Amino acid sequence: ASLAGVVEYRNVTFAYPGAESPVLSNISFTARPGQTIAIIGSTGAGKTSLLSLLPRLYDPVEGQVLLDGVPVDQLDRAEITKRVALVPQRPYLFSGTIAHNLRFGRTEATDQELWNALRVAQGDSFVREKTNGLDSRIAQGGTNVSGGQRQRLCIARALVTKPRVYLFDDSFSALDVATDARLRAALKDTTTDATVIIVAQRISTITGADQILVLDNGRIVDRGTHEELLETSPTYQEIVES
Ligand code: GTP
Ligand code: MG
Repeated sequence: ASLAGVVEYRNVTFAYPGAESPVLSNISFTARPGQTIAIIGSTGAGKTSLLSLLPRLYDPVEGQVLLDGVPVDQLDRAEITKRVALVPQRPYLFSGTIAHNLRFGRTEATDQELWNALRVAQGDSFVREKTNGLDSRIAQGGTNVSGGQRQRLCIARALVTKPRVYLFDDSFSALDVATDARLRAALKDTTTDATVIIVAQRISTITGADQILVLDNGRIVDRGTHEELLETSPTYQEIVES
């Protein structure tokens, strides 16, 4: 079978350079094309650190991260960037037009592709309402758009790259529940062959995930579907009730 789009973490342990203790210990899971894997856990559990290892913002101290069946340290960084889109927890917009921000150097993307991405990300209506549409200017750091608009622009930017793998780090938190639900439904429709890994705070964002990993103190303490975890995982129950 083709391993295209398969993400695998194999016994991964990770410590930040210079730090004494690891923030991730013995992490193993596999995410396949068409699947949504969700990661949930309290603040500081290691969710962002876990995502950062796939695009090689950092490398593990033990174990392996594989993309398409190949250890990522054997892949070209440019190749990883083409195949994996990370929407960071604090998404960044730079000074320039909305179109510039969405293309992010991908000059080959057409305006039509930008609008399609915006539609999925539930960002088309606010861009259309702006006098200059795609050519409206974003201030440095995105200070002239709201937190939710910024999240939607950064999700649209990821969609424009048409990656095999999406990493969403708490990307839906600034959206109201209804927009969050619409966005994820649209995302599911357009990314049917993609591998999706979602870090979320809000339970409703992840109840439909194929597998949920419960991260606590850098370890996967439980895994399963929402229904399974409700039965089996005290840590998950605590998160649901909080
Ligand atoms: P939230 O985003 O708040 O929900 O937390 P998280 O689950 O994403 O945790 P994250 O992976 O950001 O952090 C895990 C641990 O690593 C925490 O103890 C952080 O203090 C630590 N950490 C995060 N970033 C860095 C870093 O750049 N350097 C060092 N030394 N430690 C870091
Ligand atoms: Mg985080």
